[in-house]
Amino acid sequence: MFFELTEEQQAVQQAARDFAQNVLKPGVIERDRDMKYPKNEVQQMKEMGFMGMMVSPEYGGGGMDTLSYVLAMEEISKVDSSCSVIMSVNNSLVCWGLETFGNEEQKQKYLTKLAGGEWIGAFCLSEPEAGSDATSQRTTAVDMGDYYLLNGTKNWITNGGSSQVHLVMAQTDKEKGHRGINCLIVETDWPGVVIGAKEDKLGIRASDTHTIMYNDVKVPKANRIGDDGFGFKFAMKTLNGGRIGIAAQALGIAGGAYELALAYSQERTAFGKPISKHQAISFKLADMATEIEAAKLMVYRAAWLKDQGMDYSTASAMAKLYASEVAMRHTVEAVQVHGGYGFVKEYHVERLMRDAKITQIYEGTSEIQRIVISRNILEGQLYLPIWSEKPAMAV
Ligand code: CAA
Repeated sequence: MFFELTEEQQAVQQAARDFAQNVLKPGVIERDRDMKYPKNEVQQMKEMGFMGMMVSPEYGGGGMDTLSYVLAMEEISKVDSSCSVIMSVNNSLVCWGLETFGNEEQKQKYLTKLAGGEWIGAFCLSEPEAGSDATSQRTTAVDMGDYYLLNGTKNWITNGGSSQVHLVMAQTDKEKGHRGINCLIVETDWPGVVIGAKEDKLGIRASDTHTIMYNDVKVPKANRIGDDGFGFKFAMKTLNGGRIGIAAQALGIAGGAYELALAYSQERTAFGKPISKHQAISFKLADMATEIEAAKLMVYRAAWLKDQGMDYSTASAMAKLYASEVAMRHTVEAVQVHGGYGFVKEYHVERLMRDAKITQIYEGTSEIQRIVISRNILEGQLYLPIWSEKPAMAV
């Protein structure tokens, strides 16, 4: 086994770390307080190539591997998860989905703009009455010959108000169940696309989460991704990779809280010595360090499996499940280490604690990850491969 990062991966990690600490950190408390979309910061993320990291250079992307993307997500999430979720949705749901399953015309028309950051994309699966139960889509895409007539409402859409392109899952043939769902590429300035108000959220408050209404939107047939009825599979396969991005976000949030707790515990004294020298605190730090390392191995392994072209659906679900629970548990502990200071905004850990919660919810709740994992185990996947010469399966 070989755990060393390549020079390129180390450079990406360092660039993301510097960007997060120098550019994102100074205004993060105010953006969170005011729910202010990080427009300038996203512009800089575009310029640094963080918006289409894994897309082939042929379509204007960085041509990097999944692990590089994970490293960048982790560093940015240590400071600002509003920025990292904007990045994550564009990279692993929209760009990856389009590059893997879109046709050449769709890639030339949309992916080139999304990978370079000229445009931002959103992934529109969740509905008011179809969150975890994603096959119960109420949004309809009626086949009108050379176009689909799209009607319905989507909920909790990250990048909802700031995107130019939506990938929208909609039911074309109800009789066929999930095999009757299509994924349509919708431009947000088309007639009938209505962007609802921005949600006032517990965490990731600066990110742009909206309800979207589609009222008689005419979507050309050329904008359907894959064959008729492929939309649900498209969403599931794309989310398998998206979950690696959210797992990396959770890992970063946990790491950010741990770094702050460690530094604070070495500065703050009580009963005549730094609180880090009290077992009550040092054991908390030991637990944080141990569980973060375990989560890191799981997240990096999921990324590695994806890069090897092997089956990664179980690995990504496990990584997201575990990393998000670690993030929640240890951000709470980081607040505790800070005592009263942890409860005020200036010390950052309360924000990390609020941001951690969503990683247990979006791109599949922890309960959904357990469904994915248990089904795969029961189908015979007892353990995940540690190393293999031969790719077992593509996407
Ligand atoms: N990978 C590949 N294919 C999958 C899959 C996966 N992880 N999960 C399901 N499928 C396939 C199944 O094989 C099946 O195909 P066949 O019928 O051809 O065999 C098909 O999809 C339907 O699956 P099920 O029969 O298992 O359907 P189900 O209704 O019993 O369960 C579910 C499906 C796994 C619970 C699914 O609904 C699910 O993942 N729900 C969670 C949805 C989710 O993650 N939403 C996140 C919203 S996006 C977001 O949050 C983005 C953002 O803005 C941050």
